[in-house]
Amino acid sequence: MSLNKQEQLIRLNKKMLACSQCVLRPPRVDDASPRVEAGETCTQVVPGEGPAEAEIMFIGEGPGQKEDELGRPFVGAAGKFLDEMLENINLKREEVYIANVVKCRPPGNRDPLPEEVESCWPWLLEQIKIIDPKLIVTLGKHSLERFLPAQKISQIHGKALRREIPGVGKRILYALYHPAAALYNGAMRGVLISDFKKIPAVLEAAKKPKEFPVINSPGFETEVDKQERLF
Ligand code: URA
Repeated sequence: MSLNKQEQLIRLNKKMLACSQCVLRPPRVDDASPRVEAGETCTQVVPGEGPAEAEIMFIGEGPGQKEDELGRPFVGAAGKFLDEMLENINLKREEVYIANVVKCRPPGNRDPLPEEVESCWPWLLEQIKIIDPKLIVTLGKHSLERFLPAQKISQIHGKALRREIPGVGKRILYALYHPAAALYNGAMRGVLISDFKKIPAVLEAAKKPKEFPVINSPGFETEVDKQERLF
C-alpha cells in the first residue's frame, strides 16, 4: 500500500527521532541515564515541521537551545524574525516546511562539523524527496555550503538557481543570510529583509522551471553561471 506524503513524513520522523548516527547524539550506554546534561547540547532530535505539501522548504543550520527544548525548528529569536519575514510576504509559518541541515543541537550552539552535516544529509534528502518543494530556501552559510559548496553567501544571497542535487534531481535553490546572523547586524538585516521579499517572485518563476538554467558546476562565478542566474 502506498503512503501519502504526510504518512511518509511521519514514518521518516519516527526514524529520525531514533537516530544516533553521529557524535551529536551517540547511542545511550544505559537507558535510564539522560543522554546529556540538559542545556548544554542535544537532548532530542528536531526533525523539522510543516505541511507535507509545502511549496517552499526553508533549511537552516541546526537546532539551538530553545529548539532542542521544544523539539521544533526556529522557535527562538531567529525563529521570531523568520516568522515576521514570512508575515511580510503574506505567508504563515504553517504554510512552509522548516528544517535544518543537522537535526541535533551541537554543543554550546557551535557550528556543525562537516562530518555531522554529512551524517545527517540522508535525512534531509529524504525530506526533500517526500515534500518535493517547488523552492528550497537555504538560510545561512552552512545550509548553502551543503547544497552549493564553494559558494560565498556574500555573493550568492538573493539569487535563485537550479541545480542537480544527487539523489533528488534538479531543484531550485534560493540563498539567504541566516536570520540569527542578521538579527543584530543592521546592514545584513536590511539585505535579508529585502532578499526575503523576493521569495514570492522566485516561487512563481520556480513553477516554470524551464526558465531556470541548470548549474552543475561547483563554482558559481564562471561567465556561464553569471549569465544563467535568474535573479
Ligand atoms: N537556527 C537554525 O539554523 N535552526 C534553528 O532551528 C534555529 C536556529
